[in-house]
Amino acid sequence: MLSPKSVLITGSSQGIGLEFVRAFLKLTTPPKHIFASCINRASAEDLDEIAKTNPAVKVIELDVENQDSIEKAKEVVQSTVQDEGLNLLVNNAGILKRMGFHDVTREDMRKHYEVNCIGPLMMAKTFHPLLKQAASRSPSDPMSCNKAAIINVGSGQGSISENASSGMYPYRASKCALNMMMTCWSIDMKADGILCASIAPGWVRTSMGGPNAAVSTEESLKAMFETMEKLGDADTGKFLHATRGGTVVPW
Ligand SMILES: NC(=O)c1ccc[n+]([C@@H]2O[C@H](COP(=O)([O-])OP(=O)(O)OC[C@H]3O[C@@H](n4cnc5c(N)ncnc54)[C@H](OP(=O)(O)O)[C@@H]3O)[C@@H](O)[C@H]2O)c1
Repeated sequence: MLSPKSVLITGSSQGIGLEFVRAFLKLTTPPKHIFASCINRASAEDLDEIAKTNPAVKVIELDVENQDSIEKAKEVVQSTVQDEGLNLLVNNAGILKRMGFHDVTREDMRKHYEVNCIGPLMMAKTFHPLLKQAASRSPSDPMSCNKAAIINVGSGQGSISENASSGMYPYRASKCALNMMMTCWSIDMKADGILCASIAPGWVRTSMGGPNAAVSTEESLKAMFETMEKLGDADTGKFLHATRGGTVVPW
């Protein structure tokens, strides 16, 4: 059963990130601390509403492009969890601008790499000591999302094998690169007992996915949680698809 004591989610002002917050609150054993991060609290009204009535939800301002804001968020998390460490980091924040071969720009390639790829890497690096601390509290337990884990919200659009339609150059490339880094950090953090995986949430009705997408945020989160709760030692470094029953996506 999914029951991390603490979780940090990036990009929880709307869409899948906001639904992560709601879904964690609905668990049989909800986390003691849900660090719900957003770029600007003033414009994250839905999240703010949830936090008002749920003391477990701590809203933190964090822009994954800004290292100072990541460091400040780490201080807040550290001072709250203390020697318990952080159990779960969900790298959810992301951007998508639909640009193909003829309209893609250097600037948009850079921006997508910053948010979708470099941001999650810096999150993983910065929060690694807190995740390691959480893992060290149950050294003989197998790896899991309850013990210590980094879950990236990946995308099927980042799969080279499944690319049959082209388009979305900056998004596809940045999500593909994110998967490569995830495989690297899964190796680098294995000895620390930190599980790392990338999970595609399906095609979801959010401002990014659009109104014609296949699943609601609730349906996506149900599938994400079913996938996450099954993860163990053998799954670190994998790229899985939540709405395809948690099966492996070819790279
Ligand atoms: N929707 C889909 O069908 C789908 C499919 C596959 C994968 N995904 C992935 O799922 C994740 C969430 O997507 P979504 O559909 O929920 O999109 P969304 O509704 O557009 O939400 C994106 C979130 O990321 C935040 N964000 C953007 N730039 C950021 C930055 N620099 N620092 C911190 N947060 C930032 C946004 O904050 P603001 O509200 O302040 O802009 C927002 O909270 C993304 O990684 C996306 O690639 C989505």
